[in-house]
Amino acid sequence: MQLKTNKREQIFPLPVALISTISKDGVRNAAPWSNITPVLRPLEEVMLASALKRDTLENIRETGEFVINIPPADMAEAVVTCARNFPPEVDEFEVAGLKPFASKVIGAPGIEGCLAWAECTLVEEILREKFSIIIGKVVNLEVDERFFNEEGRMDFENAKPLTCILGSKGLTFTHPGPACKSINYAEMFRGGKDPLEKA
Ligand SMILES: Cc1cc2nc3c(=O)[nH]c(=O)nc-3n(C[C@H](O)[C@H](O)[C@H](O)COP(=O)(O)O)c2cc1C
Repeated sequence: MQLKTNKREQIFPLPVALISTISKDGVRNAAPWSNITPVLRPLEEVMLASALKRDTLENIRETGEFVINIPPADMAEAVVTCARNFPPEVDEFEVAGLKPFASKVIGAPGIEGCLAWAECTLVEEILREKFSIIIGKVVNLEVDERFFNEEGRMDFENAKPLTCILGSKGLTFTHPGPACKSINYAEMFRGGKDPLEKA
């Protein structure tokens, strides 16, 4: 079956993060984000794509800060509330019933009840005609230790991080489950040694 090429977002299982920011006037904002990824491993940069009319984008430009919060599947209702296009003066923590999780390095608060919090500062904005790419640096990274082991690996079966599958009329929230196997990075290299692993 052929799909129109502009439906390419429908072939990817996508993450759902909540990005929290604060405006220059101190208004708290939260918005769901799926066009978001770490840039390779084991670096500190992340990348996200934003439509041009987003309070999140404006706040990142104004303050140079944002938090990437990873919500569990049971926060889907709050995520949907935050997806609505409230005007910039509306405190979206208040409307969505979100409680702040204190950031340690930046001014923008995280969101209580999430699984992980990446405090980020703006490194670069790449402005295109219809969207903008934001590159951020993670300056503080915290996880809820009930769902991560000592190495920081997520117990995804219990944590149930929110993900989604897009369709032409809407999206379905999902969360990851195990597939056939787990591998060590070392298995991806001939010689069986991960070049990024410290000796
Ligand atoms: C699951 C989901 C993922 C989304 N991902 C993005 C995204 O990657 N980039 C984007 O610009 N908007 C995305 N949106 C839309 C914004 O969340 C939505 O427009 C929101 O109202 C923006 O809020 P803001 O204006 O307060 O920043 C997404 C919405 C949902 C429901």
